[in-house]
Amino acid sequence: MLHHHAKLERKSIVMLLFIIVTVLVGGIVEIIPLFRSETVIEPVEGVRPYTPLELAGYNIYIREGCYNCHSQQIRPLRDEVARYGHYSLAAESMYDHPFQWGSKRTGPDLARVGGRYSDDWHVAHLKNPRSVVPESIMPTYSFLANNQAELNEIGEHMKVLKMVGVPYTDEQIANAYVDGMAQAHTEDTDENVAGLLERYGDKINARVFDGNPEMVTEMDALVAYLQVLGTMVDFSSAQSIEPAGDVAADAPAEDKAGE
Ligand code: HEC
Repeated sequence: MLHHHAKLERKSIVMLLFIIVTVLVGGIVEIIPLFRSETVIEPVEGVRPYTPLELAGYNIYIREGCYNCHSQQIRPLRDEVARYGHYSLAAESMYDHPFQWGSKRTGPDLARVGGRYSDDWHVAHLKNPRSVVPESIMPTYSFLANNQAELNEIGEHMKVLKMVGVPYTDEQIANAYVDGMAQAHTEDTDENVAGLLERYGDKINARVFDGNPEMVTEMDALVAYLQVLGTMVDFSSAQSIEPAGDVAADAPAEDKAGE
């Protein structure tokens, strides 16, 4: 074997061909599995696909370019964890197509903004950020409160997401419009809320988000989306990442949440 190898080493072109084949095989073996998200993302309890209303909010987030100023990825660094909460897990954005990690923070990271403020705060802030944060440079989005949320087509969007691996059930897709309306709780949809909770779990926030029960608006959708960000995984058992002030806390965090 070694003897043959000596021959190979003397013929540079043949040697080159063998090197290329070897690198190709190695590359294929290492890279191809990464195209399947199941092999790289560890599932974490609690992470679920967005409800139709949240998905509509996600679409508005993209349409309005919120990602130009906001990231949705808390890095595992002490200062970030102290400011924003538990660092982001891969599984938390596994159903985002495209993901909203972002690359710039003109405003703060939003990965865990869900539940941090009231709906009223978000509505006031989106209508005019200066009304609640006087020095804010964020643009105003007051028109969202007058636009009807786009829910007629949301089932189609869910179908497409299903094709790329988001586990929406046929029932969820068939009820997309009803569930979307029910979550923002306009007058006559109360009995539909039960169906929504049955299909997506009882942790769903179902209420009038924008203070206007007459119409399901883009404001309802965007606030529903913001309020769920970072809230799906229960981190209450993951105490080890809290900055504790002693040396032991610098050891790599071993938490139970999955990563
Ligand atoms: C031009 C940059 C810019 C754009 C675009 C932008 N924001 Fe902001 N945002 C900021 C800045 C700066 C702050 C911090 C000051 C403040 O709270 O208003 C902020 C704050 C926020 C906060 C409060 C976060 C916290 O933890 O206090 C939320 C929520 C938010 N933005 C949502 C959005 C949404 C949703 C959009 C898209 C509809 C958006 N932003 C678009 C710059 C921007």
